[in-house]
Amino acid sequence: MENTPVIRVGELDFPARKVWMRTYGCQMNYHDSERILSHLEKLNFTATDKQEEADLLLFNTCAIRDLANQKFYSHLGETKHLKQKDVVVAAGGCIAQTEGKELVKKYKQLDFAFGTDVIDNIGEMVYRAYAGDRKFAVTTWDRSENYSIETKITHGSPQAFVNIIKGCDKFCSYCIVPFTRGREKSRRLNEVVKDVRRLVEHSGVQEVTLLGQNVNSYGKDNGESLAQLLFALEEIDGLELVRYTTSHPYDVSDELVAAHGTLKKLANHLHLPVQSGSNSVLQRMLREYSVEHYLGLIEKMRKANPEMVITSDIIAGFPNETEEEHQDTLKLLRAAQFDFVYAYAYSSRKGTKAARMDDVITDDIRGRRLREVMDVQEEVQEAIRKKMEGRTYQMLVVEKGSFKGQTKWTGRTSCNRLVHFDPPTQDFDYLWHWVDVEITSATAFSCQGVLKTVHGKRPPQHA
Ligand code: SAH
Ligand code: SF4
Ligand code: F3S
Repeated sequence: MENTPVIRVGELDFPARKVWMRTYGCQMNYHDSERILSHLEKLNFTATDKQEEADLLLFNTCAIRDLANQKFYSHLGETKHLKQKDVVVAAGGCIAQTEGKELVKKYKQLDFAFGTDVIDNIGEMVYRAYAGDRKFAVTTWDRSENYSIETKITHGSPQAFVNIIKGCDKFCSYCIVPFTRGREKSRRLNEVVKDVRRLVEHSGVQEVTLLGQNVNSYGKDNGESLAQLLFALEEIDGLELVRYTTSHPYDVSDELVAAHGTLKKLANHLHLPVQSGSNSVLQRMLREYSVEHYLGLIEKMRKANPEMVITSDIIAGFPNETEEEHQDTLKLLRAAQFDFVYAYAYSSRKGTKAARMDDVITDDIRGRRLREVMDVQEEVQEAIRKKMEGRTYQMLVVEKGSFKGQTKWTGRTSCNRLVHFDPPTQDFDYLWHWVDVEITSATAFSCQGVLKTVHGKRPPQHA
């Protein structure tokens, strides 16, 4: 869409301009970036993926591990030469929340920084920058009791993210998120339901992913719960699939387990980060559950819904992790039978409890343990995925790609697996169609299949 030649806002003219954005980190950040873009449309900005043609460069940063920080610093460094023309450069997100002021001081090319709780004020900040005010940082917290927003999407796809809770009160000893995202605050259940209904009825959304750092804490402040919300969303006509992420094992309730057995629209997938297979490490991580509790939980989930696919996160080489504790994690991977695992080497974050622990683990040991975690998981995963061969899955086609000059399509199953298939004809646009695909070959990291049925832009019960 082309924008209008000039828009008058307050005392300034805003000619058609281009904004380039780079987002790091989790889905929450990607969702925030989309929200930022929707605000900037009101100031006559359209998005571009070419940095050279942009008038405004925005970085939405992540602080979860040192690598994420380093990536941002190096990309920010590369923008120096672009300042020769009058480009505005800004950084938001999790690094900006805790280090905004220092960043603006340290990096000459950075015009302003903004934290995670002022996303909806981005318009005012950009206005301020174009009015000539530069070198400021806005990192205030929203002190209001309620968390009330309406989801804004700029894409036309049937998949949308919907924030239901912000912040995190868990303070796991290794984690920076409670410092970068502040205290937990939930949206009211009725507001979320109304929001989703609006997305379904007016924006063609069929699949929503409910977002939060710990969605299982949802509603605690208002006497509401995630399970209640999921039951309420089930009633929305035209909504086909509901996902949620991320969960903390401590707060998974029996009601939620039951919801997975009952609700038709709830995806057959649960991402439930375990972090370690050792009770002593879990204690030092302040995770509040034991390995036995965790395994019991996933067993209950699988009993409630035998199609349930469970994925997880692991941190290798937590401070002072012994060889035995590490071996316990490898054991857990075999016992839990995860479909996929995000494994990370522990990274010390300033200000967290774990950063103050003496640590004898070297980078070499951490690297070796990470590889062992990944190797064991690959073995487990390969065996699980092999069992998919010959089965047919219903999925939404989410991507068109090309492989060696051939068009390939990718679908995403309810259980969150990506499946690639060749089209029987090159003349049909399968994007956002619901299809049935039979899996012909599956390895640990890739599933291939053949197209069996094209249902159209609605799954069968609505076709
Ligand atoms: N709120 C989510 C996700 C938080 S961040 C949750 O509680 O599960 C995503 C993952 O990053 C975490 O699950 C954890 O495995 C990893 N992570 C967080 N802090 C880390 C650190 N300091 N070093 C290495 N990995 C970390
Ligand atoms: Fe971090 Fe723990 Fe909160 Fe997840 S639950 S965001 S790991 S503090
Ligand atoms: Fe990173 Fe912040 Fe998300 S630290 S993982 S972007 S909440």
